[in-house]
Amino acid sequence: MSIVFLNDGFMPIEEAKISPLDRGFLFGDGIYEVIPTYNGKAVGLEPHMQRMFDGLAAIGIKSTKTLAEWRELIEQLLEANEGDYLGVYLQVSRGADVKRYHAYPENVEPTIFAMTTAIKPAIAADASAAKGFSVSTTEDMRWKRCQIKSTALLGNVMHFQQGYENGSDEILLYNENNFLTEASSSNAFIVKDGVVITPIADNQILPGITRKLILDILEKDGSIPVEVRNVSMEEVFNADEVWVTSSSKEIAPVTSIDGKVVGDGKVGQVWEAAFKLYTAHKYEY
Ligand code: PDD
Repeated sequence: MSIVFLNDGFMPIEEAKISPLDRGFLFGDGIYEVIPTYNGKAVGLEPHMQRMFDGLAAIGIKSTKTLAEWRELIEQLLEANEGDYLGVYLQVSRGADVKRYHAYPENVEPTIFAMTTAIKPAIAADASAAKGFSVSTTEDMRWKRCQIKSTALLGNVMHFQQGYENGSDEILLYNENNFLTEASSSNAFIVKDGVVITPIADNQILPGITRKLILDILEKDGSIPVEVRNVSMEEVFNADEVWVTSSSKEIAPVTSIDGKVVGDGKVGQVWEAAFKLYTAHKYEY
């Protein structure tokens, strides 16, 4: 049975009820996070919570819990739920008003909801065992505030579905200038001539925590050069390796794009080295 947290308490999911006037439901007016945990150990808890605080501030919701309180809530949630590999899903919506009206209401209490969802165990850092993702591509049709981790995910959901209907594991997105932004639920990286390259974190992408950790770990290690800059789709199609990254999939190597093989069609060596470094250092964040 799944135990969730809603507002002030823990309860079985069947007992968690929210008002139909909750602005999370009516408008997707809220912020969410997904924090990966492996055997009770979280990866990037503080940067995840910082991104959530930034998102709440960006949309004018006053954070109702401190970092220490969130940490305690997450620990209790993990204790209450079974499973070795759990994503902790947190959501804060603006709350429920007495009517449906677009302007931010005053004096409503944010709705806090948290649950765990099963995530895959970290994939083996072994190129021969790792399965490559097959992805499609499409023009990014979402909004211009992608840095906000909004619960209003319809744009992302529609893009993911487009890929899913083509049998793809993910879909890479590009802007009107033919530059890579990210993927529907992941950030994207390419590797060319041994250099790891990822788009700049501006309003066109979510500043992924996995992305941030990878950049930091690679920069500190120093053996693999890294560049953060615009990446054209031509570069994507001519890359030696392509990766998609997120809290639930860590670093996933991509071996085919729109039915064409990436590099030699095998999981890449730079991925293997980067994934080993990520696995060795991820709990430091
Ligand atoms: N997705 N970009 C988008 C659009 C995302 O939805 C996600 C994460 C990422 C990667 O961010 P991070 O490394 O912090 O997980 C990038 C989450 C996991 C989801 O919605 O389920």
